[in-house]
Parts: sequence; structure tokens; C-alpha cells
Amino acid sequence: MKSNELQTLATQLLNCTACPLRQGAIAPVGWFGNADSPIVFIGESPGGVEDNYGCPLIGPSGQLLDKALWAAKMTRDRVLTTNIVKCRPKGNRTPTIEEGASCATRWLEKELAIIQPKVIVALGSVALHYLGSPELRITRSRGQWFKSKQGFDCIATYHPSYLLRLSGHSQVTAKWDVFHDLEAARNKVLESIPDYNFMSIEPIDLFALFSKRTLN
Ligand code: URA
Ligand code: SF4
Repeated sequence: MKSNELQTLATQLLNCTACPLRQGAIAPVGWFGNADSPIVFIGESPGGVEDNYGCPLIGPSGQLLDKALWAAKMTRDRVLTTNIVKCRPKGNRTPTIEEGASCATRWLEKELAIIQPKVIVALGSVALHYLGSPELRITRSRGQWFKSKQGFDCIATYHPSYLLRLSGHSQVTAKWDVFHDLEAARNKVLESIPDYNFMSIEPIDLFALFSKRTLN
């Protein structure tokens, strides 16, 4: 079962000390959601709230992602969310291309090999650079399908933290872009799994499922 395989991987992930990022974080943060999901959303790296709770995309970016998913008729328990880099970079800086590749080849690749998603949504540049190529720019590439090195069908969209930094008309436009990208991703899944249930009857309150963790 995929969920058992992911559970084993999660235990191994918690023990990873392969790179210096580990020293600035409470512990690695893995993934959340349905191991049998045909769609995987890949963010950048954990922030402070994610590091505290051990859940990806639970902080401000995650809350906005949840709203966007709800608008596109998806809930977090029915999809799977994860990150390129598993340990929070100190000061929430953007991980480098090398840090992304080093962590993702160790962990993300193993997750994807188990999950075998039909569609991957890259949230922002870090995921686009890893899955596509470092030369790509999110503003030009979002909304366009590409194949990852491993042959997964991928589409990139703006990272929720980018939406949070915009305001006014540009924010409205970018939010619509994200909505259309999420719909495109959903429709692509439905081509191969027409009856997939993307949505629970209520949005998921991740704070009800996770509690704070501490350094030990
Ligand atoms: N931003 C991300 O890309 N991932 C998280 O888990 C939190 C914020
Ligand atoms: Fe391991 Fe990735 Fe954390 Fe580095 S960032 S210690 S590779 S889990």
C-alpha cells in the first residue's frame, strides 16, 4: 500500500542529517494528504509555522493555498502537498538550486516514485526550477504543461507567498491565473481518472490535526 510505503519513508526522513539546512530547523517536514492522490502540489521549503507543526503549507501560504484549492473544488485531505526542500532554511531564505536538487533527489523523488501522480503542480520558481529547468521563469512558464525528467506531467503556477505580496489589480489577476492553473490540473487528472473525488464536504483544519513540536 502506498500509505505504508510513505509512512516508512516519513520515518527515514525524520532522521535525515544529510545537509547543513538540518541544523537550523526543528526537524524535517514531510508531506500531507492522500497517498493515493493522483495530484501532488510541490512548494518550496517549510517556513516557521510548518517547522513548528511538522506539516507542509500550514502557515499563511498554506491558508491561501487552501482557499484556492477550495475554489477549484479540492481539499487538502484528497490531494497531496509537499516541498522540494524538507528543512526550513534559516531566516526563511529561498533555498538554492543546489539545495533543492540535493534534498529532492534524496526525498521528493522517493515520494513521487511511490505516489506515481498523474499530475504535479509546481508552486512557484523553486519547484519549477527543479522539475523543469533552472532557466525557466515562473511568469512566462506558469499555466504551460511540461514533462519532468521522470516523465510526470507538470504545470507550474504562482506560489501563494507571491500572491500574498501583491495587492490591488495585480493580485486579482494573479489569483485568477492560479485558479485557471488549478482547474487545468484538475481537468488533466479527470482525463485518466474521471471519477476521482477531489473534495471533502468541508475544508480541512490542519491545526486541528497537528500540534506543536519542539526540539528534543
Ligand atoms: N512555503 C512553501 O513553499 N512550503 C511550505 O511548506 C510553507 C511555505
Ligand atoms: Fe536532509 Fe533535505 Fe533536511 Fe538537508 S534539507 S537535512 S537533505 S531533509
